[in-house]
Amino acid sequence: MNYLLGVDIGTSATKTVLFDEECHVVTEASAEYPLYQPQNGWAEQNPKDWSAAAASTIREVLAKAQINPAHVKGVGLSGQMHGLVMLDEKNEVIRPSIIWCDQRTAAECAEITAKIGRERLIEITANPALTGFTASKILWVRNHEPENYRRCRHILLPKDYVRFCMTGDYATEVSDASGMQLLDVPKRQWSDEILAKLDIDKALLPKVYESPEATGHISAEFAQLTGLSTDCVVAGGAGDNAAAAVGTGVVEDGKAFTTIGTSGVVFAHTSEPRIDPQGRVHTFCCAVPGCWHVMGVTQAAGLSLKWFRENLAEHMDYNAINEAINSVPRGSRRLLYLPYLMGERTPHLDPDCRGTFFGLSAMHKRADMLRAVMEGVSYSLRDCWDILKAMDVKVTDMMACGGGSKSPIWRQMLADMYNCPVKTGSEAGGPALGVAILAGVAAGIFTDVPSACRKYISTTAVCQPEADAHEYYERGHQLYQKLYQQLKDCYQELSLL
Ligand code: XUL
Repeated sequence: MNYLLGVDIGTSATKTVLFDEECHVVTEASAEYPLYQPQNGWAEQNPKDWSAAAASTIREVLAKAQINPAHVKGVGLSGQMHGLVMLDEKNEVIRPSIIWCDQRTAAECAEITAKIGRERLIEITANPALTGFTASKILWVRNHEPENYRRCRHILLPKDYVRFCMTGDYATEVSDASGMQLLDVPKRQWSDEILAKLDIDKALLPKVYESPEATGHISAEFAQLTGLSTDCVVAGGAGDNAAAAVGTGVVEDGKAFTTIGTSGVVFAHTSEPRIDPQGRVHTFCCAVPGCWHVMGVTQAAGLSLKWFRENLAEHMDYNAINEAINSVPRGSRRLLYLPYLMGERTPHLDPDCRGTFFGLSAMHKRADMLRAVMEGVSYSLRDCWDILKAMDVKVTDMMACGGGSKSPIWRQMLADMYNCPVKTGSEAGGPALGVAILAGVAAGIFTDVPSACRKYISTTAVCQPEADAHEYYERGHQLYQKLYQQLKDCYQELSLL
């Protein structure tokens, strides 16, 4: 029997899953690490935490599975997108990684737009200049830490730094590279025009592959560290959302998913590069060669609930939270929550907005606030869904995935707000399964991504929308949308206090 490994380098933890060649889970392990917030709106992590977590979880799954590690034929890497890792000439990490949810780069986004022009930027990179994306982080280091920039010889994304630790190769793939804002997204290659206008040397960037291509093999050093064989192929892999798409079978037109992880995403596959001229949603290359995806992003989805739990409900686990929420009526007794803890991308593209509870009364209890958080995140996902619909992206099939999708009540909220059935995949679905499938293609075990998905991905429970709930949430959503418009200027003022 052959085996495949999926390694997903998330924001809160790395999760590694060993699959057999029919995509059944054999064993899994995860390792957590800290997120540093040195200033309001900043977010950094230590890349060495990611590589150590990848190595320790690989060792752990292999030990638990008690298989011959030589039978692991491929590794797929997935993970948080956009983070900036800079290496010096000795391949040492120069500074902590500035990660996807960091919002410090508003001035650099203005610089990018001025140098390239908003329309041309959207034409090439399929997105307007965004604080979360890598290009503005590169310019921030150049503007604020010129010495660090001068020492930089290699720029890598989070999962691609882990690949470097595993194989010694400087490589990335189209889905994650799309989030750097340096890729020509329709052409699936680095944009010489953008690089020239931003004065970034192409030699700093890794080679770009398609997601199911092999980028190299496990190095002797990493083999010794983990037990894997040096014959084991490492596939391009994919950014977490493109990987989740493969893991949930969202690899053809009409298919879409919502993920509630740290961030929240509404993602739809498209065989044409469809671009929102207003730039409110992202268009990226997807993990199926020759295809793209359109997605809207809520910065703090699961993060909102995690933040609330850690600060105001520490004694409750997620089961207790779900139970408590179940006893609160729809609408949380007229309490609304805006999930802008880390600014917001879709639909506002606003790094300065912040989380807000609206309508607090002395009657409200913790459970009401918890439900309001879940509803607020769902309203924000509904904002994403509305834009996809306005762009005429066809969605006939919606899946839910990510940690938050384990909550039946949260899945039902999505079905009610979207007014469409929401399915879930098997427990194991998601990014790790997605990249294990990509590794299977790279290792020659599967022929291509769509046929492997058709064969191995199954869906389970379906939540049907309820008419009453939909009608209520339509009204709730209108008020939710109005609140941001009313508060927009106040958020600006707050950021200058
Ligand atoms: C996507 C994005 C997040 C991160 C972290 O654009 O920023 O989904 O990849 O999960």
